[in-house]
Amino acid sequence: MKINDEYDLRIEKMTNSGAGLGRVEDMVVFVENTCPEDLVKVKISKVNKSFANANIVEIIEPSKYRVKPFCPMQKVCGACRFQYIDYSYQLKVKKEITEDAIRKIGGLDIKIEDTIPSPEIKSYRCKIQYPISRTKNSGRILAGYYKPKSHEIVNIKYCPIQPEICDKIIEFIRQRAFDYGISGFMEKNHTGDLRHVVIRSSKYTGKNLVVLVVNATKTFDRLNDFAKAIYDEFEEVSGVCVNFNSKKTNVILGSKSECLVGCDYIEEKITDKVFRIGANTFFQVNPKSAENIFKYVKNYIADNFETPQVLDAYAGITSFGIVVSDVCKKVVSVEENKESCDLARTVAVENGVNNVEIHNMDAGKFFAKEKRKFDVVILDPPRKGCTEESLNEALRLSKDTIIYVSCNPATLARDLKYLTEKGAKVQSIQPFDMFCHTYHVENVAIIKN
Ligand SMILES: C[S@@+](CC[C@H](N)C(=O)[O-])C[C@H]1O[C@@H](n2cnc3c(N)ncnc32)[C@H](O)[C@@H]1O
Repeated sequence: MKINDEYDLRIEKMTNSGAGLGRVEDMVVFVENTCPEDLVKVKISKVNKSFANANIVEIIEPSKYRVKPFCPMQKVCGACRFQYIDYSYQLKVKKEITEDAIRKIGGLDIKIEDTIPSPEIKSYRCKIQYPISRTKNSGRILAGYYKPKSHEIVNIKYCPIQPEICDKIIEFIRQRAFDYGISGFMEKNHTGDLRHVVIRSSKYTGKNLVVLVVNATKTFDRLNDFAKAIYDEFEEVSGVCVNFNSKKTNVILGSKSECLVGCDYIEEKITDKVFRIGANTFFQVNPKSAENIFKYVKNYIADNFETPQVLDAYAGITSFGIVVSDVCKKVVSVEENKESCDLARTVAVENGVNNVEIHNMDAGKFFAKEKRKFDVVILDPPRKGCTEESLNEALRLSKDTIIYVSCNPATLARDLKYLTEKGAKVQSIQPFDMFCHTYHVENVAIIKN
């Protein structure tokens, strides 16, 4: 097999990076933008020892799971890779992606439950992060998602997976930034003011927090005036913040934000608790689907324990801890981000929750010094998962149950393998669809030790 060779092949399944997998004799071939059961003519673009990559030349026989994408930009924008796949089949694919990771990386033979769908499959995404740039000649602002595998911005005017108001706010920024002397950022030579616009949108209040991420270390008059103009234009905007990020990095937010006008948070309701989300705080992008996960964890604890002590680690704004607090004797949370911990303390008081103890520190360091034992340890780490030291400590701190919430099946599988090697037993794995039309999947694993 060599580059530019053409083959006809049938797609067998999707991989955890969102490509379709087919075979030419014993060689595995990954083909983007395909769907299981598609018969496609492909052209080989890269050949490795045990696998190759290829592009579609022609769909000879489309899969019965193909549908017309509801967004006209789906082919050019890299955000919704799976929109051409029927939604119920997307759920099946996510279950299979989890199964594959748990079996191949984790070496475990565990039944994976059916994926619980997102209550909404359009307008679900409440955290919007648009990179900003400018056109070379006219300096017009460009705002949108990157094209797949590039840093070229697709100037998106309408995005059906986020609340409609976000399109309007972004369009205002696109049209008016120039009037305020705010230029778009050029990644190549690291010049210009505005790098990203981040919007945190609330399903509960309909309000939006706009965060202008700038290539600067302090605010300036033009930016303050522009922030005020955005705030005055939209009653749906609760506040406008600036975030400072002048580093040469792909990380979107710098560590410091400042409120320029209005209020520096939005409120979101999950079950009967009202949370505050700020510029630099983590919160699940799909609040309705997140609520299903929070309820699942709360029900598990309520059904299996009487007044337990719970540790909520990698807690963000202590969202799990505060939601489950009514069925617990005590909740202890640990989170490294100070803004999240400050908000969590306020939120606990506002919700009348007085059995939550919040620690602002590195989870690993907290685990190592903690002497108490917990009936349940909740772990909800970032995509890279937990360190072996943290997993050892979680086993030591947990009397018999760890609930591991994960947004990355590969690191979940790796960590479950480690836990089972240490004698723990995985009781169940439940996938949830938090990121509709993408290959991402959220899982909750219940582990007994
Ligand atoms: C996937 S989020 C989960 C947040 C929260 N459980 C929720 O559902 O809203 C992971 C969180 O872990 C925090 N984090 C990352 N590394 C950490 C560490 N070493 N120690 C403590 N917290 C950490 C991040 O700041 C982030 O808030």
